[in-house]
This record gives sequence, C-alpha cells and structure tokens, in this order.
Amino acid sequence: MSRLVVVSNRLADPRKPAAGGLAVALGESLARTGGLWFGWSGTVDDAAGPGEGQVHMRKAGSVTLATVDLNQEDFATYYQGYANSVLWPVFHYRLDLADFHSAYVDGYRRVNRMFAQKLLPLLRDDDTIWIHDYHLIPLASELRALGCRQRIGFFLHIPVPPPLILAALPHHPWLMRSLLAYDLVGLQSQADVSHLRRYLLSEMQAEELGDGRFAAHGRELRLQAFPIGIDVQEFERLGAAPEAVQTRTALHQEYSRRQLLLGIDRLDYSKGIPQRVRAFQQLLEKYPENRHSATLIMIASPSRDDVNAYADLRQELEGLCGAINGDYGDLDWMPLRYIHRVVARRRVPGLCRASRVGLVTPLRDGMNLVAKEYVVAQDPEDPGVLVLSRFAGAAEQLQEALLVNPYDTEGMADAIQTALRMPLHERQQRHARLMERIREHDVHWWRRSFLEALAAPAPAILNPPLE
Ligand code: F6P
Repeated sequence: MSRLVVVSNRLADPRKPAAGGLAVALGESLARTGGLWFGWSGTVDDAAGPGEGQVHMRKAGSVTLATVDLNQEDFATYYQGYANSVLWPVFHYRLDLADFHSAYVDGYRRVNRMFAQKLLPLLRDDDTIWIHDYHLIPLASELRALGCRQRIGFFLHIPVPPPLILAALPHHPWLMRSLLAYDLVGLQSQADVSHLRRYLLSEMQAEELGDGRFAAHGRELRLQAFPIGIDVQEFERLGAAPEAVQTRTALHQEYSRRQLLLGIDRLDYSKGIPQRVRAFQQLLEKYPENRHSATLIMIASPSRDDVNAYADLRQELEGLCGAINGDYGDLDWMPLRYIHRVVARRRVPGLCRASRVGLVTPLRDGMNLVAKEYVVAQDPEDPGVLVLSRFAGAAEQLQEALLVNPYDTEGMADAIQTALRMPLHERQQRHARLMERIREHDVHWWRRSFLEALAAPAPAILNPPLE
C-alpha cells in the first residue's frame, strides 16, 4: 500500500490547543492511515536565511512529523503577506481588504520552492502526496519541476470566488495555472466547483471533457467537491469525557433560568462576528422578552493578529460588545460574554450541549466544522438549534439548520427568535436529519473518497511537466 504524505502549512501541535478545523481534520485522518505530515513548524527563526529553513523530524504515534522553520522575511511575505493579506481576503470575496505587494508573491514562491526542495528527499517512489490549502497552491508545480512523478492531489479548504473576483488577483494566471500540476483538485462545495469551472473556461480557455475533467495547456485537470466532515465518533467520545460533562453541568447550573446562545470562531473578518453581535442586539431590541433571559457566549480565538485587518476587527468587536453590555446589562445579567482566548477542545462539546442555539454565521466560509460539531454535541432528546449562514460551505449539506443571511441583521434576529421558541418535536426532527448527513459524510468518508478518486486511473492526456 502506498504511504500517505500530507502537506499543510499548519500541523496539529499536541502541545497546543488547535485553532482551525484543518489541523484537527488532518490529524484525525492521518491517525487512521499513518504516514508523513510535512509543513511549517510554527516557529519563526532567523538563524537561516530566507528560503533556507531547517527540517525537524519527530514521531507522533504512526505519523512522522517533518517541519520546517520560517525565517522572519519568509513569515512576513509568504504567511502574513501573500497567504493571509492577499489570498485569504480575495478567496473570501474581500478585495477591499487585499494588500497586493510584489514582495509578498516573491516570498510565497520562495517558500513553496523551499518546501518542495525539503520534501523531495523524504519521498518514496510509491508515495501518494496530498497537499492542502491556499498557502501551498504552487507546491506541486515546484515538486514537478524537481522531477517528482508521484500522484499529487490538492484540497482547498477555503471557498473559490467567482471568476471575475479571482481575475482581480494580479498574478492569477500564474497561480491558477499551477493547479494543472495536480492529478486531482478537491473543493469544499458545488458552488466552489462551479466557480472554478467557470474560471477555467473563461480565463484559461480550458476545454471541458466531462466528469469534472478539463484540458488546458496540454494537461488535464480533474475537479470534484469533497465536503470535509468531522470525526463524529471521536467528538462523541470527547462529549462523554469528564471535562465536557463538567463544562456542561457548570453552565446548566449557572444559567438554569436562562437560555444560552453560542458562537465559536477564530477572530476573523470572514466569520461575520460583528454582524452576529448586531443581530443579537436587534433580538434584544425587537423581542425584549429575551432581556435578562438570553446570554450570548462568543469565543473568538486570537488569529493572525499581526495582520492589520485582524487588529481592526478586534477593536471593532471590543467596542461593540462593551456598548451592548453597557446599554442592556444589569446587575444580575450581562447579555454578552466575549472571550478572546482559545478554549480547550475538550470543553467544546460541553459548551455546545449547554447552548440552546448555535450561531455559525460567517460572511463566507469554505465549510465551517463548528456547525457540524454543534449538531453532534446535542442531546437528541432535547437538541439545540443551529442557526447557519447560507454562505458557509456547510449550508449545502445542512439544509435543516435555520439558514440565514448574515448581512440581514433583522432577518438574523428573527431567525434567532425562531430558534429560541422552536417546539421540541421540530428541534428533534431537524437534529435527526442533520445527524444522518454529518455521520454519513464524516472526516473518514472525506479522506477515503478523496484518496480513492486520486488513485483512479491516470488521465487520458499524459500530463507533461509544466514549463
Ligand atoms: O481552514 C482554513 C485555515 O486557513 C487553515 O488553512 C489554517 O490552518 C486555519 O484556517 C487557521 O489559520 P492559521 O493557520 O493562519 O492560524
């Protein structure tokens, strides 16, 4: 059997709580198969020059972790710069927040080339290589340029915007053409597939061959949606463990006469956090019976705080939360509990289960695994209600959630009110349907179906190396 080699910018670090669904999902996938996990060590170290990081190897069970440090310049241009100040906003439809600098794209190319050089000697002939996310789009073409002939698949965890938004990216022809070095490209949703398909046809003059196959520049590309899932059994086990149970019991006691609403996110402008707070304010205004009885717990874990747009968001949110607590709070009740820290993963199922409403309301999101975790954590006899943005990839699958438009403050307040008042039988029915789908399309289904598709016979066109 071929060894699995996973490459991602961020690896799960057993010593630190994970922020972001990608590292958790990959950790859980690799735990099943074993293999090699390659990526950034999370350390910025100036001992080496740009593009010259050192590789560290260690074992974690059946997985070998191979990580590379980044030099300060590489970190600033590749990670903070091109990945998080260019690709992240553009792929989340936020051209207004993109900060295009040629040093950023140079750093991005340099780090991708360095990753290819460091990874190549660790590869075996029959390895299957699976590269993840927007940090590493050109990695396969760098590997191919060094002579790598193994199968390489790519999975993009974030959304693909419509073609004209992508075309605003100054280097889009180079970036998107580098996708042709992959044998298979996986995306989160059908909407993403349709956007990339239109881009390939209109901007790359690709020929559509059917079954998600496209020919361009003498190469063939396969495109397919593989919506990522969670490890349902593992999350259920976590929910039954003492720390989750204690968290739930403590919250039940503290809020015995109140209803809890919950949001858990990275503090990111794509997550629609201020919009959610305004909708909560609107709920208190329009439906005053919720004053003194509803409390919103908002956990927004720190993320990319050296990037300006994130620092601005933090300031905005702190002002907003302070104002609402000041305007509506009382001696015995505060409407909002805003926590700007990472909450231990072990406590998440307890927090979800204690909450009558789960608010997952991003402005745009690749998938959003918190939506799935919230549903799995519920008591099927007395489940809470998921209020989900229609702009999260998860909305394609989770149609029985209350779907909302996060830009519509009043509509969202109405949906929260509906969730708070929803009769038991309706909550049970919606929950049962959501559970079925989440169970069927779990993280193991995602890994298996992607890897099976990647192992399928080679394309009709013999893929020549990219020049
Ligand atoms: O899931 C999207 C994603 O950008 C991952 O690629 C990333 O690891 C995660 O969110 C958290 O962000 P960061 O690695 O920048 O802390």
